[in-house]
Order: sequence, then structure tokens, then C-alpha cells
Amino acid sequence: MGTSFIGGRGAQWVRELNERHPWSHNDYFHSWILANLPDRRGCAVDMGCGRGGLVRALAPHFDQVSGADRDSEMRRIAEITSADVHNVSISDRQLDSWADDSIDLVTLVAVLHHLDIDDALRHVERILAPGGRVLIVGLAPPRSVRDLLWDAVSIVTNPLIGFLHRPWPSPVTAPPAPFPVKDPVVGFDEIKDMVDKLLPGAKMQHRIGFRHTIEWTKPGARR
Ligand SMILES: C[S@@+](CC[C@H](N)C(=O)[O-])C[C@H]1O[C@@H](n2cnc3c(N)ncnc32)[C@H](O)[C@@H]1O
Repeated sequence: MGTSFIGGRGAQWVRELNERHPWSHNDYFHSWILANLPDRRGCAVDMGCGRGGLVRALAPHFDQVSGADRDSEMRRIAEITSADVHNVSISDRQLDSWADDSIDLVTLVAVLHHLDIDDALRHVERILAPGGRVLIVGLAPPRSVRDLLWDAVSIVTNPLIGFLHRPWPSPVTAPPAPFPVKDPVVGFDEIKDMVDKLLPGAKMQHRIGFRHTIEWTKPGARR
């Protein structure tokens, strides 16, 4: 029996289309982050900053931006990315190293699933200053019908967004240095339970690009 279109040739066609019109599912959310910055903009932390693109994008908006990554090659590239930006520092700091109530923005883009989620959210809540905000772009494996429906939406919109970003097929070039990746294992609903408990009132929603977002502002008067 021949391969079905949806299961075989269809999937291959979509894969090839995506390769010809690539877009970064993580960078796509930078505009969402920049549109949702907190009012007070002293210190920002981009946890798991990878190659440093978001750190650089945040720099004009904050007094200080810390990019943190545990991978030395990522830190080396992130340092080059922001070499001409005076208010950026790149380090291997972990969330437990920042003081209570000291940070105005924490971002985690495709990073939360690399960490102990419960522990990371507790530290985010602790280090954010009152009025400070966390903006998370996350990944989770599909566990429910709703998750599967959102994956289907992502499969359909993926090539469309690729076309909008790169209307002409991209030339074959050397790919950028790959970042350390990890398959997500904790499902959306399980993460939402933790978020609801540790960041009460947070908004968590499925997004295209096989991602979800979490946003939360720490209550209390600003310093
Ligand atoms: C999928 S990449 C995302 C990179 C970047 N945020 C982006 O959107 O392009 C995940 C990053 O998290 C970093 N990472 C994983 N565990 C970490 C940890 N415990 N502390 C700091 N960075 C970590 C990895 O080294 C990697 O650069």
C-alpha cells in the first residue's frame, strides 16, 4: 500500500516547505515580549539567552540587561552579539543567584522545560520586584485534545508565516550555531497547575509555532 498523503508525502512536503521558508519560532515572540514590557525598566534578566538576540533587543529599554546561559559557546556568541551594547552582561548565573525583589523583567524563551519548572517559577516570583513582570515562551508535549488541535493549527500556519517572513526560498547557507535543546516532557495542563499555584492570576495560553506563553506581573506597589 502506498504512503498516505497526510502521514507520509504530505508531512515530507510540509517539512521541505518549512526548510525553504524558515523562521525562528522563538524569535517570532520577541515582538510580543517588547510589546509587554513592565512600566519600571531597571534590570532585566533573559534566562537561557542562547545567542543573545533578545538580550540585544531588550537593551535599549532597560538600564541593565543580564543574559544568562549555562552553555559556554552560547555565552561566547551572545557576548559577540551585544559587544557594542554598554548595558548588557552575559554570565552563567542561575535564577537562585539574584536577590529578592531586584528584577523588573524576567524572560525565558524556550528555556523553562530545561529547568526544574516548580523551582524556576518560585525563584522568578522571589526575584521580581513588585510591579515586575515575567514573560515566558514555552514548549510542552501534546497531552490533550486541545493541545493536539493547537499543534494542528501550528502545522497549518507554519509555512504561511514562513512565506510572510521569507517570500522567496532562502539560499542554502550554513545554519547558525545550534543551541542545546531538550525535548519538553511536562504537559501544558501540568505546567498551568504550577503556574496557577505559584504565580496566581498569571495568563497562560496556547500559541502558534508549537509554543505557549505565560505572563504575570508581581503584585504590590512599585519601589
Ligand atoms: C532552546 S535554547 C533557547 C535559547 C534562546 N532563549 C532563544 O530563544 O533563542 C535553550 C537555552 O537554554 C539554555 N539553558 C538550559 N538550561 C539552562 C540553565 N540551567 N541555565 C541557563 N541556561 C540554560 C541552553 O544552554 C540554551 O541556550
